[in-house]
Amino acid sequence: MKHPFRTALLMGLWLLTPLLDAPQSVAAATAVAATPGSAADDDQAKMNKFIADLMQKMTVDEKIGQLNLITVGFDVTGPVVSKDVDASIRRGAVGGVFNTFTPKAARKLQEMAVKQTRLRIPLMFGYDVIHGHRTIFPISLGLAASWDLAAIEQSARIAAEEASADGLNWVFSPMVDISRDPRWGRISESAGEDPYLGSEIGRVMVRGYQGTDLTKNNTVMACVKHFALYGAAEGGRDYNTTDMSRVRMYNEYLPPYKAAIDAGAGSVMSSFNDINGVPATGNKWLMTDLLRKQWGFPGFVVTDYTAINEMTAHGMGDDAQVSALALNAGIDQDMVGEIFLKNLARNLKDGTVQQADIDTACRRILEAKWKLGLFEDPYRYTDEKRAKQTMMKPEYVAAARDIARKSLVLLKNQGQTLPLRSTGTIALIGPLASRQRDMIGSWSGAGDWKQAVSLEQGIRNVAGSSVKIVTAQGANFIDDAQMIARLNAHGGELNVDPRSADEMIAEAVKAAQSADVIVAAVGESQGMTGEAASRADIGLPAPQMALLKALKKTGKPLVIVLMAGRPLTLPWEQQNADAILETWFAGSQAGNAIADVLFGRYNPSGKLPATFPESVGQIPLYYNHKSTGRPYAGVALDKYKSRYLDVSNDPLYPFGFGLSYTTFKYGKPELSTTSLASGAMLDVKVTVQNTGNYDGEEIAQLYLRDLVGSISRPVKELKGFQKVMLKKGETRTLTFRLNPADLSFYNTDLQFVAEPGDFEVMVGGNSRDVQTAAFKLLGK
Ligand code: BGC
Repeated sequence: MKHPFRTALLMGLWLLTPLLDAPQSVAAATAVAATPGSAADDDQAKMNKFIADLMQKMTVDEKIGQLNLITVGFDVTGPVVSKDVDASIRRGAVGGVFNTFTPKAARKLQEMAVKQTRLRIPLMFGYDVIHGHRTIFPISLGLAASWDLAAIEQSARIAAEEASADGLNWVFSPMVDISRDPRWGRISESAGEDPYLGSEIGRVMVRGYQGTDLTKNNTVMACVKHFALYGAAEGGRDYNTTDMSRVRMYNEYLPPYKAAIDAGAGSVMSSFNDINGVPATGNKWLMTDLLRKQWGFPGFVVTDYTAINEMTAHGMGDDAQVSALALNAGIDQDMVGEIFLKNLARNLKDGTVQQADIDTACRRILEAKWKLGLFEDPYRYTDEKRAKQTMMKPEYVAAARDIARKSLVLLKNQGQTLPLRSTGTIALIGPLASRQRDMIGSWSGAGDWKQAVSLEQGIRNVAGSSVKIVTAQGANFIDDAQMIARLNAHGGELNVDPRSADEMIAEAVKAAQSADVIVAAVGESQGMTGEAASRADIGLPAPQMALLKALKKTGKPLVIVLMAGRPLTLPWEQQNADAILETWFAGSQAGNAIADVLFGRYNPSGKLPATFPESVGQIPLYYNHKSTGRPYAGVALDKYKSRYLDVSNDPLYPFGFGLSYTTFKYGKPELSTTSLASGAMLDVKVTVQNTGNYDGEEIAQLYLRDLVGSISRPVKELKGFQKVMLKKGETRTLTFRLNPADLSFYNTDLQFVAEPGDFEVMVGGNSRDVQTAAFKLLGK
């Protein structure tokens, strides 16, 4: 079941209210009324008493101190750095620390808090563990491309094992922002464009991080971010305005946050953007009415980096005003900005905030510390021996390779160019051919890129000495000196080959001419995606295009191994390459995983979690769009249709697309009924046959269309998927079960309803190529 729901009758409709139900989670259970006398009830009572007693002893300043999160140490992830750290901790002015890890470093600060402050309240230790901690998995967009929930959960579990052994107990993940705009650099950190896939992934990641018991020393608290709608930044420009109807918000953007919260995530991070005019960090409707009152979220809310301070630039007033605005909206902890620290006491005197609200925020932070078991043992995450035994264990590294293979998406494979034979000569060419740094992507936590496997190394490992490899860089990533300087100022680590473009291309062409096949490793460097890395042109940069065009002229088979943190526009590549493999930034084991696929040791199974546009002017382009009143039906000379004069409406590769070395054939979906009673389940059966020459995995996708509604409904919406392994020639019948919530949506009154009428069910291997069946939902 995707949503908990309850039914009520309203004007002949089902009224389902999943956004109003209390979270059904293990971790949330402490804050939800438990059965009297139960173990959860006892725990809750113990926690309440402990915290009430503690808060009795706290001064106002000590309470405000808990609302202060500072950055110390290794990484700076924003424009401001915390100062006077030791003194602040000692005087009880710090509730938590982030960017400090290793048991030794964390212990040092924890000792200050526990031994040298008046009330000995331990600190929380947070960090951006996004797609792995020491063992690095594919970037989040790549993880999503696996559609493999068990594998994604395992990646979060391994990250939690390593992070918790490394002094940490809180991770700023999962990031569940829906994004329909590949210009936005942070699409790389997301699960892509779909609310259903995004919700499933958010849910399993929380479970992977938190397990079933947060007090264990190998679990960490999750932080769902960036609440909310951060991925809808106008123009794909980071931090920009978002403005959308509530109907769109509830149906299309909010579900993944809700799913992660229902899975029990202990904390939420506010986003930088404003929402319909009010910044998220000062948005009382968002943080209190929706998050607390409607969703029943019991955990705490931390801001994003200096997000309270930034409300001044948003036009919300001076420091004192934005401080009061944030607290009154429902924010509990201030990341780095020290706005609460410097203003709340004054706000209290002025009467712009109330003591009760400071108390509530403080209590929520202390509850998080209790839930993590920090009052019982503040040093439980600082065992150096455990750290040594845990980091990059062989089984974690093996899992990273396996998950990376599952994340790769085969976009084209003309004439079965792939898999490659392990004989002859391969020309491995391109700026990414031998790079290690880029393999682990951006936000790669405490990952060490020197331990990452480059593509060249991976090919050598997998193909062995029977294949001759000739290499050439062929091109620099980019030739824009200003962009290189900007990237390198912030960890871009781009080396620029001083040779002229012509010289580099000539060398590459020579290598290609001596080979049987060209493998061109092209794309973005890791710094070209991620935070503050929006791009207006998302094609391959000019020097790499020139290289590909020169390689094409050699007439040798051209295999493009693409590395990027976002969908790129690839019309030339699609026309001219023989094969294209999308590999994102595949993590510590990238090279081995890619080579496994190139040489057929693993048959690719990944599917795109985001639409690939043909041209940047089509953006936003997403599969679950509405129909206009004048839909274009392919009649070229029709004028008054919703279309472009100069480009098609179609994507280059649709959502859910991905090839295999084998082929699959779908039968027509068979429905358990074509007249579905209100409130009943619908079973959809479909046969899938492996019709090609390899065993392989297929991700079968089910989409639904509600043909007539009180609001215009998307042309299709993903409502289920299954990953199946089929032997060569094998046929399997899959059953999908749709429940009433799958048929429901938020109407203009924000009621979650399933409206009687006609529906279409579509099943296929991507969102475009589907088999359809129809049914009618009956009224009550
Ligand atoms: C990012 C967050 C991140 C935080 C802490 C911010 O700039 O938006 O995603 O968790 O920094 O590093």
